Amino acid sequence: MSQPHLFITGANRGIGLEMVKQFSKDGWRVSACCRNPENALALTQLANQNKDIALYTLDVTDYQAVAQLAKSLQDQSFDLLINNAGVYGPRGSSLDHLDLDAWRQVFETNTIAPLKLVQAFAPHVGSSQGKKIAILSSKMGSISDNQSGAAYIYRSTKTALNQVIKSLSIDLSPQDVKVIALHPGWVRTDMGGPNGLIDVEESVTGLKKVMTSDIMTGRFYNYDGAEIAW
Ligand SMILES: NC(=O)c1ccc[n+]([C@@H]2O[C@H](COP(=O)([O-])OP(=O)(O)OC[C@H]3O[C@@H](n4cnc5c(N)ncnc54)[C@H](OP(=O)(O)O)[C@@H]3O)[C@@H](O)[C@H]2O)c1
Repeated sequence: MSQPHLFITGANRGIGLEMVKQFSKDGWRVSACCRNPENALALTQLANQNKDIALYTLDVTDYQAVAQLAKSLQDQSFDLLINNAGVYGPRGSSLDHLDLDAWRQVFETNTIAPLKLVQAFAPHVGSSQGKKIAILSSKMGSISDNQSGAAYIYRSTKTALNQVIKSLSIDLSPQDVKVIALHPGWVRTDMGGPNGLIDVEESVTGLKKVMTSDIMTGRFYNYDGAEIAW
């Protein structure tokens, strides 16, 4: 393969930023998106040191901007597209405590936006050699794994995302594009908090190995390569 090309959202911090670090270190060209490049100091510093990292402003819920970016990059091919951007929403959602407006917003970011992103960029992936799309889901979206209840907002948006991923994997199979869901582990980021079990380096090292191996489309993978039941 000629120099492989990664396109990633939410690249300014947490798991997304570490993806940019590790893929660019491995020689990939990286198109990294974030909402506010002017505040993304670490990402900007990486891009300043490496001509193969390009930065783009993108709020994934601004679908007009998504379509415009896809159009402006129509001559480019992405071997791997990672939808990493995601939000947790208000903490402690429970039967007695549910913020419905927040739920709708989290649904927009975690469920609808990944579909709109793939819709806009599927041609760029289909024209590449790698032909892979990886979407950051969460084990908290697995119905089989739900032993502790609650967390209605985050869980339901990731469960619905899993269904979106499964349908995308079927709909894009004629183009040979593989689509997978990923669980990064419980990671020490702003979202995962300080009690997470692993750091971003360990999570992304595992996720990168999964994404660059011979994956099966329409599956849900843990960062260590194990399959997770939907
Ligand atoms: N950490 C964990 O333990 C864990 C576990 C399971 C799954 N995940 C999933 O892994 C992914 C990354 O998580 P993380 O831990 O790295 O989270 P994080 O540290 O909170 O970072 C989230 C990233 O998503 C971006 N983002 C949020 N809304 C966006 C929008 N509308 N448009 C563009 N970017 C947006 C944020 O950008 P801003 O800086 O602009 O807000 C930030 O770059 C998420 O999808 C998350 O659900 C994480």
